Parts: sequence; C-alpha cells; structure tokens
Amino acid sequence: MENSKLIFVAPYLALGCALYFIALVIYRLYFSPVAHFPGSKLTAATGWIETYYDVFKGGQFTFQLQKWHEQYGPIIRINPDEIHVSDPDFYDVAYASSAPFEKMPKWRDRFGLPGAVQSTVQHELHRSRRMTLNPHFSKKAISNFSWFIQQRMDQLCDRLLREFKDSGEVVTLNDAWGAVTADIIINYCLGFDYNFVGYPGFVAPFTRSIKELALSVHIAGHFPWFLKLLQSSPDWLVGLLNPGMKPVFNFQNEIKKQITIIKESDHEKHSTERHKTVFADILSSNLPRQEKTVARLQDEATGVVAAAIETTKTTLSVASFHILHNPGILRRLRIEWREAIFSDPEKPTCYGVAQRLPRVSKYKAIQYDTYSIPPNTPFSMSSYIQHTSSVFNDCFSFSPDRWLTTAKVASAPGREEKSLDRFFVPFSKGTRWCLGQNLAWAQLYIGLSALFRRVDLELFETEPEAISSAREYFITLPPPETKGIRVIVK
Ligand code: HEM
Repeated sequence: MENSKLIFVAPYLALGCALYFIALVIYRLYFSPVAHFPGSKLTAATGWIETYYDVFKGGQFTFQLQKWHEQYGPIIRINPDEIHVSDPDFYDVAYASSAPFEKMPKWRDRFGLPGAVQSTVQHELHRSRRMTLNPHFSKKAISNFSWFIQQRMDQLCDRLLREFKDSGEVVTLNDAWGAVTADIIINYCLGFDYNFVGYPGFVAPFTRSIKELALSVHIAGHFPWFLKLLQSSPDWLVGLLNPGMKPVFNFQNEIKKQITIIKESDHEKHSTERHKTVFADILSSNLPRQEKTVARLQDEATGVVAAAIETTKTTLSVASFHILHNPGILRRLRIEWREAIFSDPEKPTCYGVAQRLPRVSKYKAIQYDTYSIPPNTPFSMSSYIQHTSSVFNDCFSFSPDRWLTTAKVASAPGREEKSLDRFFVPFSKGTRWCLGQNLAWAQLYIGLSALFRRVDLELFETEPEAISSAREYFITLPPPETKGIRVIVK
C-alpha cells in the first residue's frame, strides 16, 4: 500500500479497533451470560489481569483469587469467561465422578502435549485414553511393582550412607527425591533405566528440565504459541530462548525413538522381566490406529512422566522437611515403623497441584447456591484454597494427629459434618482425578520409611521458608532465592 493511502486508512483502523474493544468490554460487563456473578470488574473486563498476576508477578493469580474470595464471597468471576468457587462442600459437585465434564480448551497446549491424557478436552476421548492407562495404575499393579520402588529407595539410602555419612557434605533432598521419582516412573512406563539416583549430587539435566516445564506453565498458558515455537525451533534457538527446556525436548526425542523401536519390534521384548511396561501394553491394545501414532504416544509418555515427577518429588521433600523439623514426630514414626503399624501420619502439608482445575459442563447448567453457572462456562476450584480454608484447623502447622481423630467437621455452621478426609483433595476427584495416586502413595510410604529408618539426617541451614507456598506454578513453590531442603548425613 502506498504511504499516502496508509496515512489515510490508519486512523479509521485505530478507531475501528478502539470501538471494537469498547464494545467487547461493555458486552463482558453487562451482557455476558456471567455478567451477574460477583467479582472485580477489571478482571471481568479483560483476561490481562490474570496474565499480569501469573506471568509478570510470577505465579500470584491463585493467591489473588483467595483475596478476591475474601472480598466478594465464595463464588466469583475470575476473568471474562470463568467462574471460581471456594467452598469445600462444592468440591464433590465440581469434580463429580458421574459428570461428563470436559477440560477448558484454551489450556490444551499449555504443556505442549496436546495428545496427552491430561490435555484431552473431550470427555469421550479422555475416557478411552484413560481406560487404557487405568489398569497399569491400580493398587494391584502398583503393588506388583513395589519391589522396584523399594529397590530404588534402598539404592538412594545406600548411596547416602556410603558417600555422604559424616562427610559434612550437603545434600539437597529435592534433587535426591527428583532423581528417584524420575527413575521409578520412566522404568515403569517405558522400561528403560537412566539411573538418575547415581548422578553426581543427584542432579540430572532431565529432572531439572521437568522443573523448567512447570515454570513455563503460565507463559505457555497465556501465550500458547510459546511452546510450539520452541518445539519447532532448531536446537541453537532453543538454547538461546530457553536453554533449560532442551533436556525436555531431548527426552521427547528419546521417547520418540523408544516408541518407534517398540512399535517396530516385538512389544513383549520391551517389557522388563517382572512387569509389562505401560507403553508396550498400549501398543498391543485395541485402541484405534490414530491413538497409537508415535506423536500421540510421545505426548502421552511425556505427560505421564512429567505429571509423576514434580508432584511426588515436592510432596516427599515437604514431608521430609516436616519430619526433620519435628523430632517428636520422627521418634513416633520410627517406633511405628519398628512395630510395622504404619498408620497414616505422613499426609504432608502440601497442596499437590495448587493451580485451579477448570471443568466445563457442555450441556447442563451447574447450580451453586442461588447461582446457575451456564453450560459451556468453565468453572474451577483450587486445592491450595481448599486446604487453607477454615475446615483445616491451623492449616499451616504440620499436625499429623489431625488425621488420627475420628471427629467430624463442617465447612460452615449448620452444614453437614463430614470426616476431614472428605475435604482432602490433593489428587482431585472425578473422572480426571490423578491417574498415579496409588504410585504416589507407594513412593511416599516406601520412600519416607526407607529414608528415615535407615539414614540419620540433620537439616542444614533450611528454614520453613524453603517449603512455603510463595508462588504457584501448577504446584506451589517457595521464593526463588531459597535453596531447597538441605541436609547432612550423620
Ligand atoms: C503426590 C503426587 C501427586 C499429586 C499431588 C498429583 C495430583 C494430581 C491432580 C490434582 C491431578 C488432576 C489434574 C487436572 O485435573 O488437570 C492429576 C492428574 C494426573 N496425574 Fe497426578 N499427582 C501426583 C502424582 C502422580 C503420579 C506418580 C503420576 C504417574 C502416573 C501421575 C499422573 C497423573 C496423570 C497422567 C494425570 C492426568 C489424569 C487425567 O487427566 O485423566 N500423578 N494429578
């Protein structure tokens, strides 16, 4: 276009854009089907408020939601399209196992794994993917694999005793737990062994890069092209834009290679002696062909492996800190372990996936009190907000005894009293609840009892801040300057 024409058209274009945005804001504030829901007008008018708290303030949106709930009540509008509820009694409705809820389409690409079970939007497609995975993560299947979990936990303890005992050398437990959990899930799913537990200082580029994947969740959630751009960029550009992500992409390529090998050969060969690996089994299942492409399985494998590591590693790390920080509890645990009456004392003060988990009811409105959430409107709750609600008395203190009482609690005066367990939701509930919770519990039980029975640890310059929830990047993280849960072996 000639310069003179451009000068003539530009003001009209600018005016057109301005009018469009004014009309959009008026629609969102006064005519949208969710216009009558309580909440900040600014956040109802534009999604950039969420971007500001998530991306520019570094994982602060979940905490801001909590403040808005204090101001506006238990049900609020948190962006132009979405409703958030903070009411522990509503959890069973929002995540009902009988409801065919879908996931929010705009989050499909935030992990760069559109073919993974956790990214699947549609209910029916999710159901078929999930049904193929479920048998591998049942209590029985995990119990059959517990020999390997025990073996890897023992390997960790052996190494701590052999290399670090009385050396004064500092070990960062977050890295050690990251190495074991990564070894366990990769062996279980794919049948190959990187032996991360043997890495110097327990630090493997791969486990560090899974953390990078978590740290990119907000950027990728708000700017879905970000991960796509990285994934399709040559190595040198990834190194320039986000070098921490390189090992994740390398791992994805490795998975691609492994799945291609399994596909082209005898599936049985790629199952270790004692168990059939998850992906060898998926390949021999009767899932339709399009579900068994290398690209789809690459997403699924990366998704399951990534979902297993940061969550379990963080829970084990937080639990370790609390146990070491409370010598009375360590003494009690050792007595219970000696007498093999392991009750349930290690539900750690940890929120699992703290970010809200949006669901969409396609055809039916969802009722909350006098509010009817219209069909196709995403609604969500957050495990962080649930676990810091008044149902959990003195929620920030580590108090295993709260799980040993049979007393029931009500979420508000006059409401039904329920056992505290009913409000405990780190693995969520419903059709999309955690696939790997039996594996996670097995690692918690076996890992914590192996470590604290066999190895005498002392915290090294680790303050409670190291396990605080200062940022939310899907899971909660402490302030960036903290150095993890550091110990020396005595
Ligand atoms: C303490 C450890 C863990 C916690 C707190 C945790 C928590 C959760 C939560 C809250 C969800 C629901 C996410 C959503 O709605 O988007 C979830 C889903 C999932 N988790 Fe876990 N998880 C843990 C460990 C594991 C492990 C060990 C695995 C290994 C298999 C795993 C695999 C998955 C998968 C594949 C999903 C997606 C399920 C689906 O969409 O059907 N998780 N997890």
